[in-house]
Amino acid sequence: MVTAILIGAGGRGRGAYGNWALQNKDKMNFVAVADPNEIRRNQFAEEHGIAENKVYKSWENILAQKKMADLCVIATQDQMHTGPALKALDLGYHVMLEKPMATTQEECYRISKKAEETGKQLWIAHVLRYTPFFATIKKALQEGEIGEIINIEHSENISYWHFAHSYVRGKWSCCEKSSPLVLAKTSHDLDILYWLADSEAEKISSFGNLSFYRSENAPPGATARCMEGCAVANTCQWYAPRVYLQAEPVLQIGMRSKYLYKRIIAWLALHHPMAVSFMGLFYPPLRILANRNLWPVSAITDDNTEESKYRAIKDGPYGRCVFYCDNDVCDNQVVNIEFKNGITASLRVHGMASYEGRWIRVEGSRGTLWGKFSIEDQQIHLYDHYQVRKKVLLNVDLDLSGHMGGDDGIMKAIADSLQSGKTDNSAVLTSGKTSLESHFMAFAAEKSRLENEVVLLDEMRNKVRKEAG
Ligand SMILES: NC(=O)c1ccc[n+]([C@@H]2O[C@H](COP(=O)([O-])OP(=O)(O)OC[C@H]3O[C@@H](n4cnc5c(N)ncnc54)[C@H](O)[C@@H]3O)[C@@H](O)[C@H]2O)c1
Repeated sequence: MVTAILIGAGGRGRGAYGNWALQNKDKMNFVAVADPNEIRRNQFAEEHGIAENKVYKSWENILAQKKMADLCVIATQDQMHTGPALKALDLGYHVMLEKPMATTQEECYRISKKAEETGKQLWIAHVLRYTPFFATIKKALQEGEIGEIINIEHSENISYWHFAHSYVRGKWSCCEKSSPLVLAKTSHDLDILYWLADSEAEKISSFGNLSFYRSENAPPGATARCMEGCAVANTCQWYAPRVYLQAEPVLQIGMRSKYLYKRIIAWLALHHPMAVSFMGLFYPPLRILANRNLWPVSAITDDNTEESKYRAIKDGPYGRCVFYCDNDVCDNQVVNIEFKNGITASLRVHGMASYEGRWIRVEGSRGTLWGKFSIEDQQIHLYDHYQVRKKVLLNVDLDLSGHMGGDDGIMKAIADSLQSGKTDNSAVLTSGKTSLESHFMAFAAEKSRLENEVVLLDEMRNKVRKEAG
């Protein structure tokens, strides 16, 4: 049994990792928690049976104590990773740190170096590597299914409502307060490209801007807040009551399932929630649909009551018109990469999708691998140049699990590794050292975008190492 402490009991800390431990009580037990938000830290303590004297108000308090567990899970906001990560490693904890590792190259480097110096495991939550989808692609490429890899085309299509929730109204909308889109979101994708290409990046260029979610694109009659009598409320797909009270966009995903019964349940949840509530008496997981407490609805309040949700959109950030927010992160960006082994890759990210998900095409000397990674469905197809055949490597319908198996995958990997006593970083798929590379790629892309230049990665790596001594 692995013992753990949690720093930051928010969406990720409590929602993803805490819930995983509750479902895997034989593998991990949280023994202490820190969060300045009283409701969150108390909820977490209650759920995990944590003693009152092990509930702290901040990472500084919890890490001022002697080491009290094997693992420290750090799930604070982007700009609050470095302090707790360095301190936890110093205290002798193995650490699971949310991505991005940190918001500057220097801090990322310091964290990765500290893990090497202390000899403790550092897992960065680049959870995509732990999904069956990307693991299947990696295996196929390693086994030479398409021959030598020549080029990778990858896109991260963020739906209009997800993008608005996180990068227009939400916590990752301002670079100054969080981090640029290419780091906050796309560091996952850069990490996947680095992993699949199996080579460090040589050079990077990038373009991008904030083109759509701007005040000049507000339709006539739109008000600063949705519930202030907005004239386009009936037709606006971002209208906050539609997104957060009816949970319409997220329930619509289920209505596109290839299975009729899932389409019917999603339709009922949208139009007749009482019927689904009744069905929940026989199959309790359905209650979450009936109560419409799926993400992102669950992210706007701490208690998920109808009254709190209403207040949150009436007065809080999620009730703002998407055209009148203080957002400044890009809503569309492209990144071009040449790896040291000659593979080229292009990455596209944007916040305009109706159909959310990642698309990937890998072109090789002997064939093409094509993949679609979406909550709605996951598919991987292989085409061979020589034999006229198509192999289907994966075909999965609607998957509502955290990051389609990625959250479960990383937690299992951590628990298995610590339980087996193999605790050096060689057992870690996304160690600080590995993730440092994809973070460098993100910093290079942002530098290229802002300074109109092709960035040579070795120059960047050497500069950071030199300055850090
Ligand atoms: N791996 C992924 O795919 C993935 C997905 C979403 C978010 N993230 C990252 O996870 C991190 C957390 O995101 P979230 O959505 O859970 O955010 P959140 O805001 O819901 O949670 C952060 C928590 O940290 C707490 N906190 C603030 N100051 C603190 C302090 N001094 N000590 C201890 N706790 C403190 C806050 O009160 C809050 O409860 C972010 O860095 C985010 O970018 C990663």
